[in-house]
Amino acid sequence: MNKMSQVNTKNTGVSVIGLGQMGSALVKAFLTKGYSTTVWNRSPEKAKDLVAQGAVYTPDVEEAVATNSLVVICVLDYQAVHEILDTVGSTLSNRTLVNLTNGTPEQARLLKERVTQLGVEYLDGGIMAVPSLITRSEAVLLYSGSQKAFEMHRQALDSLGTSKYLGTDSGLAALNDLALLSGMYGMFGGFIHSVALVRSEKVNATEFTSELLIPWLHAMMTTLPKMAQMIDSGDYKTKDANLEMQASLDTIGDVSRAQGISTELTDPIFSLMQRRVADGHGDDDFPSVIELLRQSTN
Ligand SMILES: NC(=O)c1ccc[n+]([C@@H]2O[C@H](COP(=O)([O-])OP(=O)(O)OC[C@H]3O[C@@H](n4cnc5c(N)ncnc54)[C@H](OP(=O)(O)O)[C@@H]3O)[C@@H](O)[C@H]2O)c1
Repeated sequence: MNKMSQVNTKNTGVSVIGLGQMGSALVKAFLTKGYSTTVWNRSPEKAKDLVAQGAVYTPDVEEAVATNSLVVICVLDYQAVHEILDTVGSTLSNRTLVNLTNGTPEQARLLKERVTQLGVEYLDGGIMAVPSLITRSEAVLLYSGSQKAFEMHRQALDSLGTSKYLGTDSGLAALNDLALLSGMYGMFGGFIHSVALVRSEKVNATEFTSELLIPWLHAMMTTLPKMAQMIDSGDYKTKDANLEMQASLDTIGDVSRAQGISTELTDPIFSLMQRRVADGHGDDDFPSVIELLRQSTN
């Protein structure tokens, strides 16, 4: 039978390419919501449990793509995505491709260019969750690219978690995804340094974290909207805590060195504050250091 003729015209099915930890969680979510789900993976053994739960496995990726008008791909990286698409050829034509593989905005835009030539509606996605959170509202999935595709397949995509559409530029989901991960790693870095300091005196990390650190970070988080407004307006003048005061003494560095804790995580922020003061911006509030991060990309 011609592969094109096998398309699920009622649009109630989804094909999932990639059955790693995340891809498998996506398949389970679609199955739970009653979508007929066709799956393909480079290593076929990963399909076994999913087939037992109702998925349809095919060893032929072209057939997997041909079966449904909604094709979700979630593999390791963009190189893998392109390699898979090389084998699929024009079978992808006139379908919707939702790519949930992690990558950069540029990679998303290039992939959109590639598949748009085949008449594909391209939606890029960023998954702000670990596999065990998929289906729960805390799992946020960022989408950008074809609005038509997002609206047409919204119900199926909502099976995975909370869907947020960010705009027609297919690079926006990846940009926001990586920005959120930057915030997360900044917080993890602060957490690790903080706990390393108290552990140097054998303070219990679990108690310190729950009783002191988390409430402190919650309080500090309430200052972020004001900082964001300063960044949007470019007006960094403060009446609260100026950079000159914050950068005058390297007490965090001093205590870390005294306690035998590396300052690799805290030095970069301290040196940015000092540079900004040296540049004549000592009266500014902390968000002013963003001016030092902005570099010309030309
Ligand atoms: N896991 C998470 O917490 C998480 C959270 C957010 C986003 N993500 C993103 O989701 C994507 C998948 O992550 P994962 O956790 O599922 O990773 P994973 O468990 O390591 O699975 C990787 C998948 O990519 C496939 N793959 C790798 N190279 C391939 C190639 N050259 N050709 C065909 N298939 C290839 C693997 O196939 P084989 O089984 O044959 O090796 C497997 O299906 C990544 O982009 C990741 O950044 C993951």
